[in-house]
Amino acid sequence: MGPLTEDEIRFFKTNGYLIKRGVMDPELCARARERLWDDPPPSMKKDDPDTWYGPIKEEEEDPDGMNLKRGFGWRYRKLGREQFMVNMLPGNEFVNAVAEQLLGKDRFVPIEQVRGIYYTLPQPKGVERKPMTCHVDAHPFNFAIASYIDDVPPDGGGFTVWPRSHRTFWHDFHSRYRPEYGPNYRKHAQEFAEHGIYDQSYGGPGDMVFWHHRMGHMASINYTRQIRKAVICDYRLKNIHVLEEEPPGEDMWVDWSDEVKAVDGWDI
Ligand SMILES: [Fe+2]
Repeated sequence: MGPLTEDEIRFFKTNGYLIKRGVMDPELCARARERLWDDPPPSMKKDDPDTWYGPIKEEEEDPDGMNLKRGFGWRYRKLGREQFMVNMLPGNEFVNAVAEQLLGKDRFVPIEQVRGIYYTLPQPKGVERKPMTCHVDAHPFNFAIASYIDDVPPDGGGFTVWPRSHRTFWHDFHSRYRPEYGPNYRKHAQEFAEHGIYDQSYGGPGDMVFWHHRMGHMASINYTRQIRKAVICDYRLKNIHVLEEEPPGEDMWVDWSDEVKAVDGWDI
């Protein structure tokens, strides 16, 4: 038995995601928050929120993939290798126990680094709201965690999911895990973005969203005055490269733990 209740597993299976709050160590969250100021774009000043708006000035962009700065996004990936970041998220006892509960003990690749801190800069004042977009991530994994190290208020760039979309997108790929898009993927992504009901998972430091790999989602636009700071980490089964040779079958939970398989979704 792991830390998630049967109802929580049921919610995850039915909706494709699950939010848990206050999981991460507040001191580690504070340490990660502070690292924003290691190497910001030069015109961004810690004590002046008016300098935090995007887009990043062209001359201050950084194409380095480990510290990518462009537009409204800044992906401080090299930080993901630091031990305190690993301790904060996959090294957290609760998080690891959830991963074991969902995928099975010793069945997933141990996490030695996280994706880093993903910042979303605020939109300029008075900007018009932009249309929603929806996508599924392309690389092979089973589930991921989007976690917050700071407050993410409504409209603050929270990780947005389209509940239950994993059950549509599961069938929209030729491979169970590879990004081999079928003919319906683009149409469905557009339909969810335009008409689907979404959940923008706002929250505070230590909160996190566990989400299924075929979940439709977007990194939302930040209409607040503060910088959105998220830490993301992916879990994948050790034999995912064998499993990805298979097509998506009728049972989308076939590769998950016995405990997950044993719980019925509400209408699946
Ligand atoms: Fe994504």
